[in-house]
Amino acid sequence: MTAAALRSADHTADTTAPLVIANQVTKAFAVGRRQIEILHGVSLQVRPGEMVAVMGPSGSGKSTLMYCLAGLEPVTSGDVLIAGKSLAGMSRGRLAQLRRRDIGFVFQQYNLIPTLSAYENVALPYRLRREAPPRELIEGTLEAVGIAALSNAMPTSMSGGEQQRVALARVLAQRPQVIFADEPTGALDTNSGRAVLAELAEIAHQPGQCVLTVTHDPAVAATCDRVLFLRDGHLVDELHQASAEQVSTVLTGLAASVGPVA
Ligand SMILES: Nc1ncnc2c1ncn2[C@@H]1O[C@H](COP(=O)(O)OP(=O)(O)O)[C@@H](O)[C@H]1O
Ligand SMILES: [Mg+2]
Repeated sequence: MTAAALRSADHTADTTAPLVIANQVTKAFAVGRRQIEILHGVSLQVRPGEMVAVMGPSGSGKSTLMYCLAGLEPVTSGDVLIAGKSLAGMSRGRLAQLRRRDIGFVFQQYNLIPTLSAYENVALPYRLRREAPPRELIEGTLEAVGIAALSNAMPTSMSGGEQQRVALARVLAQRPQVIFADEPTGALDTNSGRAVLAELAEIAHQPGQCVLTVTHDPAVAATCDRVLFLRDGHLVDELHQASAEQVSTVLTGLAASVGPVA
């Protein structure tokens, strides 16, 4: 389907139209006087109800891809569409609105405000917009991620897993259609990490939502609907409903085939 067809599909409320589309996305960074291309024409689609993992060796461009898809970094060429809307040429104001309303981003580092309680951290995006925080929704979200009892606790008194759940609740309470997560469990022990991913999966499988997450854990990737493999800025493989063993086999192959950087 063409991008134009997808945009018109959006208007007719096609519930199966992809929420995320990347068309031949390239991304280059200026390093000194040179432009170094990091993403070399990445195309992908994520549909409503899908939980998709992105895997690849360190430095393969996973974070760069997530930032480009979420509109946090402009692409160098190609285009990204979120819920049928092209980010290319979107005004700063429109893009900011889209990021506030439709896109959630979970970072590896939780970025919580240490002087605010869990509840206040989740309420913060509302306060920044001068809106009254919806108390029931916020409390319900804290409960959904398993930390209702910590509503009044300060981040410094929490474990890493608990802090990441607050950060997750802060994103979820905005009810974004699309959630990007960049190694959201990178700082957590295996069990806390898998619990956070299980919560993300539950959200992804709700109607009209999707999640794209970077992970290094083949067991986590195996719980996703699809796994995309990135190497040196190219999408090089994709698995559907894969087992952890199948994921590990592809990863091992990627690590073995990484050549010297030109
Ligand atoms: N702002 C930047 N300026 C220059 N190079 C960058 C920048 N951000 C990332 N890179 C480079 O892009 C490559 C991919 O980085 P990244 O997307 O963080 O990979 P990953 O998340 O897969 O580890 C790395 O070589 C990194 O040094
Ligand atoms: Mg990264």
